Amino acid sequence: MAEKPSMDTVVSLCKRRGFVFQGSEIYGGIGSVWDYGPLGAELKRNLKSAWWKSVVQARDDMEGLDAAILMHPQVWKASGHVDGFADPLVDCKKCKRRFRADHLPGKGDIRRCPDCQSEINLLETPPRMFNLMLKTFLGPVEDAGSITYLRPETAQGIFVNFTNVVNSRHRKLPFGIAQIGKSFRNEITPGNFTFRTREFEQMEIEYFVKPDEAAASHERWVQERYDWYVELGIKKEKLQLRPHGAGELAHYAKACTDIEYLFPFGWSELEGIANRGDFDLRQHQEASGKELTYFDQPSNTRFLPFVIEPSGGVDRAALAFLVDAYREETVNDGTRVVLGLHKALAPFQVAVLPLLKNRPELVELARKITAGLRREFVVKYDDTASIGKLYRRQDEIGTLYCITVDVDSLQDHKVTVRDRDTMQQERIDVAQVENYLRKKLNC
Ligand code: GAP
Repeated sequence: MAEKPSMDTVVSLCKRRGFVFQGSEIYGGIGSVWDYGPLGAELKRNLKSAWWKSVVQARDDMEGLDAAILMHPQVWKASGHVDGFADPLVDCKKCKRRFRADHLPGKGDIRRCPDCQSEINLLETPPRMFNLMLKTFLGPVEDAGSITYLRPETAQGIFVNFTNVVNSRHRKLPFGIAQIGKSFRNEITPGNFTFRTREFEQMEIEYFVKPDEAAASHERWVQERYDWYVELGIKKEKLQLRPHGAGELAHYAKACTDIEYLFPFGWSELEGIANRGDFDLRQHQEASGKELTYFDQPSNTRFLPFVIEPSGGVDRAALAFLVDAYREETVNDGTRVVLGLHKALAPFQVAVLPLLKNRPELVELARKITAGLRREFVVKYDDTASIGKLYRRQDEIGTLYCITVDVDSLQDHKVTVRDRDTMQQERIDVAQVENYLRKKLNC
């Protein structure tokens, strides 16, 4: 088995099996925009649901939120994004392509163009700051007064609703607000498949604490978020924590630790856990003129809470889970590709496969079993190939169990249940299949 799959291997599986397609493909595609296919849509839904269950529904100290993508333009002025959310942009004088200066290979002021390999001297071609927010216009008139932005992070929707949640939910510190949603950034150099794109989804938590509890809370959240990836199957040796140096902190952050995954293209950020201090609530309080302080009854004091922010990307997490789950095994009849996704993430839990599709009684029984299981599980019926091929296909998309209906099933009312990982097969009573799966899948 290969030590790790190459990006090409994963990208090709994603396309071949319907996880991810190039956006607007029939028009030649659009740069670094991806559409999730049938399998990718299920994977992302499962991933978001696992996150939501773990950080909202399984905790007493969290609330969920679904704020709008479009916000009042003053939000982005107050948050610092209009003035500060920019990356250094540099042109290659020779090939005229544009790059993010801090991503260029080379050292100090002497860098190299990744495309034409010519030297880029940052003293001769100084980078200029390029704002990453995507602009749009609200209403029928396109003038300066109607400009707003597609949100570059979901976080601000949480900050502006802080007092709404405190009041409507009678919340006391510490507590958090979580949301999942699309964000947009006009990245200068998107790339590495779905790793860096201009439209992506974030899973963000803003956890509000007393200022003197922020450092300890930050540490706890780093650990909790690291554990979440491990519980969902990411190999520990492919994960690392990287605290930010003072020079690389975002404009709002007092401290930040990244959870990084060893992608085929190197260690890269999956999620950042930042201590944002009271930066955002203070900025919005000043800009809106609305009181955003919290009244602490026991100490009879009023203050702006500090915020710990675990912020991860759905697309990056999905990519990491795909890369990590991919394995190739040598079996009797060649190589089998298995996507060993965790049972909470696998797009399909069960596949029902009739051994012979030209036997109507078999098809009928298989269809009946499918319909019954569908009430509780995500089940697919498939009779489009021979059983050997169907098993390989299901392994490759991570389906946890395959149920085969054969000629004997008509007599003994039993089916063969095959486990994706062990390939072991068990003969189970049709009436017991539901219970069997319930036990195996813990639901
Ligand atoms: N609210 C804090 C914030 O947005 P960030 O580190 O800029 O912090 C958080 O982004 C996470 O969002 C990243 O760890 C990454 O998983 C995801 N993310 C950010 N930019 C992305 C992009 N261009 N494409 C895909 N995911 C991205």
